[in-house]
Amino acid sequence: MEFRHWKKLSHKEQDAIITLALKNNIDYEDKMSLGIPVSKLDPNVFYEQASFLKEAPLLRTYLQNPNHIGCHTLGSSEPFFNGTQQLEEEVIELISVDILKAKSKSCDGYIAAGGTEANIQAAWIYRNYFMEACDARIEEIALLSSDDTHYSVTKAANLLNLQSVSVAVDEETRKIHPELLDAAIVHSKKAGIKYFIVISNMATTMFGSVDDPDLYAGMLAKNEVAYKIHIDGAFGGFIFPVSCPENNVNFSNPNVSSITLDAHKMLQAPYGTGVFIARKGLMQYACTAAAKYVSGMDFTLSGSRSGANAIAVWMILFTYGPHGWFEKISKLLYRTAWLCKQLDKLSIKYYRHPNLNIVAIRAQHIPAAIANEYGMVPDSHTEAPKWYKVVVMDHVEIDYLQGFIKALGKAL
Ligand SMILES: Cc1ncc(COP(=O)(O)O)c(C=O)c1O
Repeated sequence: MEFRHWKKLSHKEQDAIITLALKNNIDYEDKMSLGIPVSKLDPNVFYEQASFLKEAPLLRTYLQNPNHIGCHTLGSSEPFFNGTQQLEEEVIELISVDILKAKSKSCDGYIAAGGTEANIQAAWIYRNYFMEACDARIEEIALLSSDDTHYSVTKAANLLNLQSVSVAVDEETRKIHPELLDAAIVHSKKAGIKYFIVISNMATTMFGSVDDPDLYAGMLAKNEVAYKIHIDGAFGGFIFPVSCPENNVNFSNPNVSSITLDAHKMLQAPYGTGVFIARKGLMQYACTAAAKYVSGMDFTLSGSRSGANAIAVWMILFTYGPHGWFEKISKLLYRTAWLCKQLDKLSIKYYRHPNLNIVAIRAQHIPAAIANEYGMVPDSHTEAPKWYKVVVMDHVEIDYLQGFIKALGKAL
């Protein structure tokens, strides 16, 4: 695989680039800015003379507190924070091209509050697109997804006043039943739905299962309805493209219009680092024309947002580089495979996608005390759980998993 933008940079190299970017933002000591309700973090509270700050470009960014309001891959932006906004633009292009296989400069995007916001941004864009470009009435538009989809899609339906259609998945394989998908589309069409906004998963929250966007596309085309497909890669976006590079959940697939990723999950970035990326020509449908005081207007759900979050994502990707990141993901997948092997030996039933680091174990094998002790997450806190999941993150080492397996063996 070739990488156009993604490479490893030393801490010194990163520091030099971020220092220059901060210099290109407004310097409140040097230049007056009478009109913006912004300043650096309050120096009475956030001490700026600490010696370690010299070595810590991210902390210096937090102190300077750049506002990245708007979308920097599109038109102009607030000039006060041009330096760090350029690094956000760079990181969006890197993720689009080197991770999600988009053509150069073919996408827009921004660092959102999280996966929830990025999914809602997608639904918002497509609702407006169908209403503005296709003359759709709101009651003719529905969100379409699977039963394993994250609840942010229910939030999007509620906020945007859209109907929500959910399709059952197979209990064992977690794959969408094609005949049930067909039936759901036929039924919705009879009820007056003509436009579908699909949220297709690149790793579901509970199982790590990956939907096939081409199944949705084929079924919707067969039923002669209009659709747009968004990929929810909040969990899998920084894993699946690396562990399974030949996939159809990226921009090389013409059926895919936009993608969510979450840097504050696998990338271990600070919270507030969701990523929304869409093909060019779509962000405009979320333009708020009333945002007249914002230079370049606002195409995002967020409004003001911290530029430090974009710098954090930038730093993580350039610290690892593509090969370092591949090694990290491979290590997590090795541990996941180890866990599955031990579960097999104990004849414990579970679901695992071979390219992901989630193991969902049937609840019947997990005594509540073990679930509690090992911090497992159930599929439901309101009903009797059917599944408990283990997410093999950086801190979930085999030594720790060994204790878990031993406890499970004893309980059996
Ligand atoms: C698949 C998926 N989508 C969306 C989200 C929502 O992400 P956030 O909590 O960052 O808003 C999550 C969170 O777990 C998720 O797993």
